[in-house]
Amino acid sequence: MRDAFVKPLVDWYAVSKRDLPWRHTRDPYAIWVSEIMLQQTRVEAVKGYYERFLEALPNVEALAACPDEKLLKLWEGLGYYSRVRNMKRAAETIAAGGGSFPNTREGLLALPGIGPYTAGAISSIAFGLPEAAVDGNVLRVLARLEACEENILSGSVRRRMEKELREVTENAVAGGEVSAGDFAQSLIELGALICVPNAAPRCAMCPVADECEAGKRGLTDRIPLRKKETSRRVEELTVFLVRDGDSIAIRRREGEGLLGGMYEFPNLPGHLDRGAAVEYIEKQGFFALNMKKLPPARHLFSHVEWRMTAYEVRIASFENENEYRSHDDGGEWLFAVRSEIEEKYALPSAFSAYARRLRLHLGKDKG
Ligand code: ADE
Repeated sequence: MRDAFVKPLVDWYAVSKRDLPWRHTRDPYAIWVSEIMLQQTRVEAVKGYYERFLEALPNVEALAACPDEKLLKLWEGLGYYSRVRNMKRAAETIAAGGGSFPNTREGLLALPGIGPYTAGAISSIAFGLPEAAVDGNVLRVLARLEACEENILSGSVRRRMEKELREVTENAVAGGEVSAGDFAQSLIELGALICVPNAAPRCAMCPVADECEAGKRGLTDRIPLRKKETSRRVEELTVFLVRDGDSIAIRRREGEGLLGGMYEFPNLPGHLDRGAAVEYIEKQGFFALNMKKLPPARHLFSHVEWRMTAYEVRIASFENENEYRSHDDGGEWLFAVRSEIEEKYALPSAFSAYARRLRLHLGKDKG
């Protein structure tokens, strides 16, 4: 992440920031209350609640001792009541430990209801630590600055942004001109006032337009990309690489379902232990000469995730080949050599971790 945007952004924040009640304090308790309230609620709605809450419960001890009924009354109308229940549990933990507020990101993360964003916000705003506070709005700003066309809802993109922003923050703070808290809030402020969602960012007024790749390339309406990661059903599978000399067993997948009509290595649902694996091979009418457990592999389909374990099994060669090397009807096993698998039978990439292994281990053949 380039850091040329830091100085103009912080300078803009110094003169353009909104006068908000939680910007007049460095008290970690008050900052925490504000950040939790702001998580799912608009700034304008939070202002009144924030002031009332702090007046009624001015510190951790007061919150820890507050009866639930009174607490819920103070929160009434803000919604997402688990937020305040978690706050009370966290306050009880802090109070039980002597009352001093955790002053590191890790210490904050250990408390209920405090995730990476809130830990970063409290660390930087209350304690001046060079930590990153990356919520959805900050992600939008960062993605546009970099013209990042990746999905910002993906955990890996968020973690990378957090890491890079932390490095930028460390450098900026080390230079002495920028405070961590102001820098964190300047990104929040830019996201709220200028770099707003959808196709209407106010780029003409943006203090960092010169540093914004999405703006320069006309991509602000496409960035950020937000795609919900689908939740996949996890299926466990045990895959068998059954080898007879240079040949390997495959079979045709039946039906119209997932990968129907394609070929696969024989497999069974579930993760079989060695004994069950041998039993399966014997049930097919083969004798296992030796069997080796292979490393696990994973494959992601759009709605299903396969978690595979596998055994490589050497079986005894058969005198009467026709008896066992039946052909590709009805899911029966078919023994094919490497070149046949590569050229003739469609083997889905779900099995590629194991197919690759075969390529390494089965030399060129006569097939
Ligand atoms: N949203 C989340 N944190 C905020 C803050 N400190 N100021 C304004 N809006 C916010």
